[in-house]
Amino acid sequence: MAKVKSKWVCQNCGYESFSYLGKCPDCNQFGVFVEEITTPLTKIESSKPSNIVLDSKITTIKDIELDEKIRFKTNIEELNRVLGGGFVQGSLLLLAGDPGIGKSTLVLQTTKSICETKLNNKNLKVLYVCAEESPLQVKLRAKRLNVEPDGLYLTNQICIDEVIKQIDEIQPDFLIVDSIQSVFCASISSSSGSVSQIRECTNVLMRIAKQKNITTIIIGHVTKEGNIAGPKVLEHMVDCVINFEGDKYKQYRLLRCIKNRFGTISEVGVFKMEDNGLIELNSASQMLLERPKDASGSAVVATLEGSRIFLHEIQALVGSTGYSNPRRVAVGLEYNRLLQVLAVLEKKVGLNLSKQDVYVNVVGGIDIIEPSYDLALCLAIISSIRDIPINPLTIVIGEVGLLGEIRYVDNIERRLKEAYKLGFKKAIIPKVNDNIFNKIKSIGLEIVQVEKITDAIIQGLKQD
Ligand code: TYD
Ligand code: MG
Repeated sequence: MAKVKSKWVCQNCGYESFSYLGKCPDCNQFGVFVEEITTPLTKIESSKPSNIVLDSKITTIKDIELDEKIRFKTNIEELNRVLGGGFVQGSLLLLAGDPGIGKSTLVLQTTKSICETKLNNKNLKVLYVCAEESPLQVKLRAKRLNVEPDGLYLTNQICIDEVIKQIDEIQPDFLIVDSIQSVFCASISSSSGSVSQIRECTNVLMRIAKQKNITTIIIGHVTKEGNIAGPKVLEHMVDCVINFEGDKYKQYRLLRCIKNRFGTISEVGVFKMEDNGLIELNSASQMLLERPKDASGSAVVATLEGSRIFLHEIQALVGSTGYSNPRRVAVGLEYNRLLQVLAVLEKKVGLNLSKQDVYVNVVGGIDIIEPSYDLALCLAIISSIRDIPINPLTIVIGEVGLLGEIRYVDNIERRLKEAYKLGFKKAIIPKVNDNIFNKIKSIGLEIVQVEKITDAIIQGLKQD
């Protein structure tokens, strides 16, 4: 009999070691190693790749015919857009997000239109593996959401090998696994949720998805640090990774594609969580702007996410510190960017922030990723320090370079048009060349072009 072996696996990134390590050499996390017993494979099993295709043949790319029905659209337009036009048949998709953000609600809402879709004159069937909740709980939620289609089958089986038997029995076109952290594979001895289990279960699901052409949606929770729990490994294996983001204590949610083998990753979808489920928001730009008038420490920026423009309010609070090391807190934007902006303000504007705490926050609970908010961040900080409000009808767009220069951002025309639509009167933007200026001057906003951070501050704090 083969000897039973054990290994220590990092639960954050999947790094394997033969002995316990306090710190993971790969992802630098502490105390993340868990011992896992490996069941040895026989010689034949271990030498054969699991996804081997025996009847492979060579074809030219032109000979492969594309089936028109390869994409399934759902009734949720925001989701279709993020996916690049709908679910691709036989693809494996990971939907990741914080617990309680609304992942189960979203997939349940999509099942209605999936089950109404016809393929070869038959309605599609969905098998929903509810490993976290009982079918009764899912039924209760489905009733509330008014989603009870005929072809939706529920199972509370958490052993993936048994799920495969049920797949053979029901022959579904869609499989939903809610969540990958709660199912397990009998051949791995570690507990469900461990990296080895997640990896093996996803492997099995990937094989089934490709062999039987079943579109599979895997739901995965994210860790406190915001990574998809356990598996960086998971991201490599699936065709598509979608993040569901937002503040779960607020209503707005953002669906963001971070990997897509069948489309672009630039699109986002916006939802609002209401009593009867997730509602799509087609016009999202206004949602984040509910602000008090004449308050210092606030500036509005127009950012571009995919093809959508969002208007975000950035707030800053600067005050004298009670600590030996002043505090820097960034919520909703990148911490290092805040430090960089503060360094530019110290060096190029001559501020002394060494005895000041700086807190910044993006209102609405949605993170900003692109760098066009730098200038608005600078002005919000200055406005807080000087206690002078920035005109609430002024929009501020621009990236700040290390030399204190204001750098150009893309699609400035579209951003300004959206701001004008929402009632803004003035825009502080980077210096643009003449052909762009000719286009934007007809928008209706008063345009102020700035080249340096010092100019921008003078313009921003000017009281009209
Ligand atoms: P859920 O889909 O269970 O989150 P996840 O699967 O990501 O853990 O959603 C849970 C939250 O959504 C819960 O706190 C309640 C809220 N919710 C609503 O506000 N309205 C609704 O119609 C539903 C179904 C949930
Ligand atoms: Mg859930």
